[in-house]
Amino acid sequence: MRLVDLRSDTLTRPTSSMLKAMAEAQVGDDVFGEDPCINKLEEMAADRLGKESALFVASGTMGNLVSLLAHCGRGDEIILGNLSHTFYFEQGGSAAVGGIHPRTVTNLPDGTLNLAEIESAIRPDNIHFPLTRLIVLENTHNLCGGTPLGLEYMRAVGDIARRYGLKIHVDGARIFNAAVALGITVDQLAAEADSVSFCLSKGLGAPVGSMVCGNGEFILRARRARKVLGGGMRQAGVLAAAGIVALNEMVDRLADDHDNARKLANGLAQIPGLTIDPSLIKTDIVYFEVKREGLPVEGLVKQLDNLGVRMLPVGPGRIRAVTHYHITSDDIDYVLGAFQKLL
Ligand SMILES: Cc1ncc(COP(=O)(O)O)c(C=O)c1O
Repeated sequence: MRLVDLRSDTLTRPTSSMLKAMAEAQVGDDVFGEDPCINKLEEMAADRLGKESALFVASGTMGNLVSLLAHCGRGDEIILGNLSHTFYFEQGGSAAVGGIHPRTVTNLPDGTLNLAEIESAIRPDNIHFPLTRLIVLENTHNLCGGTPLGLEYMRAVGDIARRYGLKIHVDGARIFNAAVALGITVDQLAAEADSVSFCLSKGLGAPVGSMVCGNGEFILRARRARKVLGGGMRQAGVLAAAGIVALNEMVDRLADDHDNARKLANGLAQIPGLTIDPSLIKTDIVYFEVKREGLPVEGLVKQLDNLGVRMLPVGPGRIRAVTHYHITSDDIDYVLGAFQKLL
């Protein structure tokens, strides 16, 4: 049976050119700084993001954690969205591991934080308060529908950060999706950020890995943080080889994923019992609501699964679908046909 698995863009399997590059990778001990593939990938990532230096890490979660540990000391405070991945889905790692205090601001539906609310969350100099160090943004914003945060917004947050002497970290797990959707280069989008983490293992299709980018001193601190977390990975060049292919070959094609997501959203909007505003779909993530009496999302997801269509139930009445490298326009027709059959 045909299988169209839309649960996540993390489901991508390495392309044949990635597998070839992995098999042929020249490797060394990365903890000694001697893995040529890792060194090349780190240089490429820094260059693409317009930063001085970069670090290969195991995952997006590790990328965010080492960044926060590199920016903040124990008792320092960070400002971040209440729906941000870092706050919501990372086990409170920065508090648990680094003693870093999170101050949440409500995410607006487009993934931004209201500028006035950011400003009023910044602590004044007072012996009772923690020291505010960092603003954390997410681009694209996963829980807010994969929306890209634009240049103008990034500049406005940059202005606030400069005025108060704060740093900015961007959880850019999908920042390449954002740049492609906005029609700008990723270094433009990263210009206001002191650090950016991005994932090779999502839409870019690599099997493992994320990158952290920033200035040289910051990356040295992040490298120390990665080591204490057990993230010194020795001959990890076999993984970096796939990451190099991801950066060389998989960025521009993200536009296809965005087209397929829009096609899916437009089709779902025509199906009675489903609610979605297709104009909000800007990248690869599609959330929609099921408003059908007596049809819990778990039941619908199960029935879709029986037809070879996989999606993720994400809370009462809500389903997430994410397009990626293995999803074709034809697959979207098949998915819409499955919905028509069921509803
Ligand atoms: C916005 C965002 N940040 C970070 C992560 C964490 O990445 P990983 O699963 O590689 O730890 C994810 C994963 O879905 C994400 O969507």
